[in-house]
Amino acid sequence: MNVDPDLLRSRLGDRRARTAMVLGSGLGGLVDVLDEPVRIAYGDLPGFPQSGVSGHSGELVWGLLNGVPVIVLSGRIHYYEAGDAAAMRPALEALKAVGVEILVLTNAAGSLKPELAPGSVMLIDDHINFSGRNPLIGEPSDARFTGMTEAYDAALRRHMREAAAAEGLTLSGGVYMWFSGPSFETPAEIRMARLLGADAVGMSTVPETILARFLGLRVVAASVLTNYGAGMTGAELSHQETKDMAPKGGAVLARILAAAVPRF
Ligand code: HPA
Repeated sequence: MNVDPDLLRSRLGDRRARTAMVLGSGLGGLVDVLDEPVRIAYGDLPGFPQSGVSGHSGELVWGLLNGVPVIVLSGRIHYYEAGDAAAMRPALEALKAVGVEILVLTNAAGSLKPELAPGSVMLIDDHINFSGRNPLIGEPSDARFTGMTEAYDAALRRHMREAAAAEGLTLSGGVYMWFSGPSFETPAEIRMARLLGADAVGMSTVPETILARFLGLRVVAASVLTNYGAGMTGAELSHQETKDMAPKGGAVLARILAAAVPRF
């Protein structure tokens, strides 16, 4: 079911935004730093995908981030919730229909690099989709042959790095590898991911990036690393750990994003 763009437009009134953001698990705190927020529950936007994952709320919030109008999607639906890689398509199409041009994707992820400790933030330079799934499967138009050479926009990534530097923070880049979840990876899968060149693993973002590029949106994305990949420390992984650790890196990411959006 598609979202009616007129309904979203009428709920937003004359508020518009060039930039939209999708918040990952436990990163909802970004909404609290928006000025003049207007909150719309996904339930009031028929067709908007509702996530059943704890740590994800379900609302669209318009507001000013460091003086810049943005639309924040607090809560996303994941492939693993219903086996639909295109689950976020109606939401992204609705954003595009109300004038969004830039999509900022955030997520919680497992770190594959010893120097990227839990609580740190990684800018996504590129991704690996080794899942065999793609949200454009079944799309009939030739636009399905979407180029992914610069999936993560080079200029937006530069703005993120410069914004971080201006905040006195270093922001290293890396490769994010998508696993379907919802079970975490095995230690053997994590060793494979490292061999293939991944720096972080997670259960979201990649299908959204593909959809966004298909729709002609520019994408920039960042991971908050909540744990080391399975087998790297011997500790068992849990969603509770993700929710507990995400706010720490989330606060750093919120600072970087606030400094970055005026540069976009
Ligand atoms: N793997 C996949 N997704 C995740 C992880 C992980 O280790 N941590 C947070 N999200």
